[in-house]
Amino acid sequence: MSGRRIPVAVLISGRGSNLQALIDACADPAFPAEIVRVVSNDPGAAGLDRAATAGIATETIEHRQFARREAFDEALNAALETAGAEIVCLAGFMRILGPAFVARWAGRLLNIHPSLLPAFPGLHTHAQALAAGVKLHGCTVHMVRPGLDDGPIIGQAAVPVLPGDDETTLAARVLAAEHRLYPRCLRLVAEGRVTVAGDRVTLAGGGAEPDTQLINPKS
Ligand code: GAR
Repeated sequence: MSGRRIPVAVLISGRGSNLQALIDACADPAFPAEIVRVVSNDPGAAGLDRAATAGIATETIEHRQFARREAFDEALNAALETAGAEIVCLAGFMRILGPAFVARWAGRLLNIHPSLLPAFPGLHTHAQALAAGVKLHGCTVHMVRPGLDDGPIIGQAAVPVLPGDDETTLAARVLAAEHRLYPRCLRLVAEGRVTVAGDRVTLAGGGAEPDTQLINPKS
């Protein structure tokens, strides 16, 4: 592929398994994006080691060192601009970003959330799904808006809730779906095929890949 690869920054707070899925996707030279920086708000995030192993520059910006949320957001924004990022992927980044930051990156700020939004925003999504008795659960990649786990949906992947599931088994099934979904959605955005109109995303381009997946764990 001869096209320019879009520079992407990934923001993490912890384990970084979704970061790893994005690293693995970007290892293909034909993938339309490349990760130029990984930023964590927690110096102990295991995902920082994953980035270093892949030879990606990392940076830690500890939110605790900032008295105001806006100051943290400004430091983060400066780091992303210095890195030359054009798309920002939140991958288990557990800080709420303020409206100025979100507006600055509008249409280029993606998040992955472990539920089929708008069901189950917030924390403990797998426990919420089990308590509600839903038969399908899953994950969502969406454009970030100022509300918590809110914004136009780029893609979703659904998995069944199976008899005997507990939070651990359900979380593992959803996580595997997350790792498949996030690179697909980043690809769509990096290729410029995602347009936001109001609260909805439309996909451009003939033969666009489906942005939904139903995953049968037995297949
Ligand atoms: C993932 O399940 C992600 O969807 C979730 O945190 C986990 C991070 O895991 N994000 C949220 O809950 C955001 N609201 P990872 O660090 O292994 O990618």
